[in-house]
Amino acid sequence: MNAIEPTTQRVFSVQWSGDADGYLDLLDQTLLPMELKLLALHTIEEVFEAIVMLRVRGAPAIGIAAAYGVVLGLQKCLSNGNSVGEAREVSVKACEYLATSRPTAVNLFWALDRMKAVVARSTNIASPLDLAQALLREARLIHDDDRRTCHAIGDYGAELLEDNSGVLTHCNTGGLATSEYGTALAAIFTAQDQGKNIHVFADETRPLLQGSRLTAWELQQRGVRCTVICDSMAAQVMREGRIQAVIVGADRITARGDTANKIGTYGVAVLAKHHNIPFYVAAPRSTFDLSLISGDAIQIEQRKADEITRGFGRQTAPSGIDVYNPAFDVTPAELISAIITERGIISPVCEERVRAMVE
Ligand code: MRU
Repeated sequence: MNAIEPTTQRVFSVQWSGDADGYLDLLDQTLLPMELKLLALHTIEEVFEAIVMLRVRGAPAIGIAAAYGVVLGLQKCLSNGNSVGEAREVSVKACEYLATSRPTAVNLFWALDRMKAVVARSTNIASPLDLAQALLREARLIHDDDRRTCHAIGDYGAELLEDNSGVLTHCNTGGLATSEYGTALAAIFTAQDQGKNIHVFADETRPLLQGSRLTAWELQQRGVRCTVICDSMAAQVMREGRIQAVIVGADRITARGDTANKIGTYGVAVLAKHHNIPFYVAAPRSTFDLSLISGDAIQIEQRKADEITRGFGRQTAPSGIDVYNPAFDVTPAELISAIITERGIISPVCEERVRAMVE
């Protein structure tokens, strides 16, 4: 079977269909780049499963999916004759349930806090349907805001990318990981739209290959020149002088700028420092967690051993072997040249500058 051919079709990570009694269309990212399959999710449990299994993934996309998931969680109250009070309780429980799906990307908790705030404000609401409609409005707002945010990040980020340069990226930060367009990849897309010639080197991103399966696919769809490399090749490619900038996304950024992102990012930042290459992080304000100062306080998701020992169906380590599989790592602020947000560029990266931009 061949990977899907480049298409002009617009690809989205998630999309709500219908009114408050509608459902969530979600592109199953585990099947890419071989299959473009939409899943119609009708229950909150299906949204939870999709987040845990990375059918939807990337910090902003997880937050958006979870917001719609809350609406699905409330739908049972629309036909069961529940009171408004019961509907409010069900909504809060839906937020608490979805908050246990993945721990690291703060966008999930940020989106669920916004949904909980709608419930808290809804004391005068007349029916469960009214509450479901208010929650759907908020989920749509979160979704639409992210579209605007991605384009603003793209504009600021493109300023940092030079014509005829090589750019290394890790994991996937494009339209699949957000509402559309992306964060770090948005900077590359915008630079290309401005006529800059950018050659992207995409780390394949072990163990789940978001770089080779998703980033390479998205770049190919848009006609951006892309070369896939194994994660372990980044040092050599830098040494050969092929990389003029590194740009990655983020799952949680603390007040001092320490940044959690896909496992392997920290290593890339160390390599960039050694080779005197600027290391940029692109992320929306919803990815900042100003309640934390040091990145040591960020909870890192631990995932199952078989993602490493049996990746994509073939056993590649002895049965019963001990495995360590953290999904993220933390890059300390001192290795980050700049953080690109929808409000502008934070540089140097320090608590004072972060708070001035984000608060
Ligand atoms: O485990 P994943 O695939 O959800 O990890 C995603 C990343 O680490 C991304 O770099 C990050 O969420 C930014 S997405 C704009």
